[in-house]
Amino acid sequence: MKVKKKEFGQFFTEPTIAGFMVDLVLEKNSKTFLDPAVGPGVFPQIANERNPGLTITACEIDPEMIDRFKKENEYPHRLVEEDYLNCRFKEKYDAIICNPPYNKFQSIPGRENLIAEFQHRYHIALSGYSNICVYFLIKSINELKKNGKCCYIIPYEFMNTGYGVVIKQYLLDSGMLKTILKFDNSLNLFEEAITTSCIILLENKKHDRVELVNISDLEELRTGTFQNTKEYLYSELDPKEKWIQYFEAADARIAHRNTVKVSAFGKVSRGIATGANSYFTLNHSMIENRSLSPGVCLPCLTKAPDVKDVVFTEAAFRRLSAMDKKVYIFDGERAETEADFAYIKYGEETDVDKAYLTSHRNPWYAIEDKKPAPILICVFSRERIKVIRNEMGIKNLTAFHGFHLAEPDEELANILFCYLLTPIAQELLYRSRREYGDGLTKFEPNDLTKAEMLDLRLLRTIDRQRILTIYEEIKQQNAEVKIEELDAIFRSYLEA
Ligand SMILES: C[S@@+](CC[C@H](N)C(=O)[O-])C[C@H]1O[C@@H](n2cnc3c(N)ncnc32)[C@H](O)[C@@H]1O
Repeated sequence: MKVKKKEFGQFFTEPTIAGFMVDLVLEKNSKTFLDPAVGPGVFPQIANERNPGLTITACEIDPEMIDRFKKENEYPHRLVEEDYLNCRFKEKYDAIICNPPYNKFQSIPGRENLIAEFQHRYHIALSGYSNICVYFLIKSINELKKNGKCCYIIPYEFMNTGYGVVIKQYLLDSGMLKTILKFDNSLNLFEEAITTSCIILLENKKHDRVELVNISDLEELRTGTFQNTKEYLYSELDPKEKWIQYFEAADARIAHRNTVKVSAFGKVSRGIATGANSYFTLNHSMIENRSLSPGVCLPCLTKAPDVKDVVFTEAAFRRLSAMDKKVYIFDGERAETEADFAYIKYGEETDVDKAYLTSHRNPWYAIEDKKPAPILICVFSRERIKVIRNEMGIKNLTAFHGFHLAEPDEELANILFCYLLTPIAQELLYRSRREYGDGLTKFEPNDLTKAEMLDLRLLRTIDRQRILTIYEEIKQQNAEVKIEELDAIFRSYLEA
């Protein structure tokens, strides 16, 4: 049987985690149990072993999975063979456990109707960008008996993204939120699913505080002893904030002084999206082979790993070009020669003009008009955020975000760049991150624009001068020397 990851979001829960979740919700006197997305049946199997008299209800939509479930589950149960989101149960449940499908909003059938129905039935105005797992969670919360418990394992992106704000508000308003256990993103729980995970425990009675647990070792689930646990009053949690920050160790959350939002200095925005990089990005040999004119081939950074120099200059560009790296983009609107027009024709013959972005552009071969940014920030990072001072003023594709200053100011750009290199600056930016599992972190432009940073206007002249001298050293040696010294300077303003 083929596992349908895309269509039905089939990722299976490892038995240790499943057992832990069952133990969280099942009481000796629990009588009724529901699994809304049962798959092969790991939750009801364990629940039945723990409480043999339990009345078990399970839902599954995929016919092949239904067959598998029937073969592998012989204890008494009721299997509802339909879409959980369409099921209308007459009864409520003592225990609900679920690992729901996690399909992004684009692939939720009848999304508009579902949103209207959830507004009407559960009084929640879900955003159109909500992941399907959120619909499951909200529905289940409403199917709990008084004092019943519900446990979900889902990606924790809802705690950090825009669509999650109403969900966090809903969980707090319900009073049912009891515990969130967040798995460290180095623990890749679901093979091949690049996602983060958390377990949410809810109980249908009024709570006014929540326990937040950071799990960095699965052994903690086996032993039930958690190293990093914090308790917050509901009133201390702001649904508009990224909740990831509440999980961080107390010492990592020390308040910093003299901070402002990044937006006080400028704006971070995404790079150029071509819609067909294999056609639009070029290296020196491709330009020569096709005899393209220099005017149509614009210097542009296309891939993050190509850039090894932290200060990117004309010389660095020439080196990459000589290495035949793809550091040009084709701008068809500047076509002049027969060879240029032939390349446009080649694009049409190979259907480049029919791709999503190109077909929505007029003409399809135009390049987005985005100003080069003085500082570039790599979109994905592991451990450290890669920051590049763009002295050359080269364009960039979406692998990089551009930090545009409110007003052009070379000196400020140099100081800001030095600041962004330091561990203290990165620590503040990391609070706005989105985690992708397997240690990978992504920043959206807005995450960065809204992040906190040192108010660089407060720097004393002597410190400004020292920072600018260090900048020149970094540029000359093209190495991240002196970062410790920079860190100490900036830290002295941020920490009391
Ligand atoms: C993430 S898997 C979890 C399976 C199992 N509970 C586990 O934890 O190993 C989700 C399951 O829900 C099923 N599913 C997807 N959409 C569904 C829907 N709308 N209603 C009911 N089941 C659904 C999938 O076929 C899949 O078997």
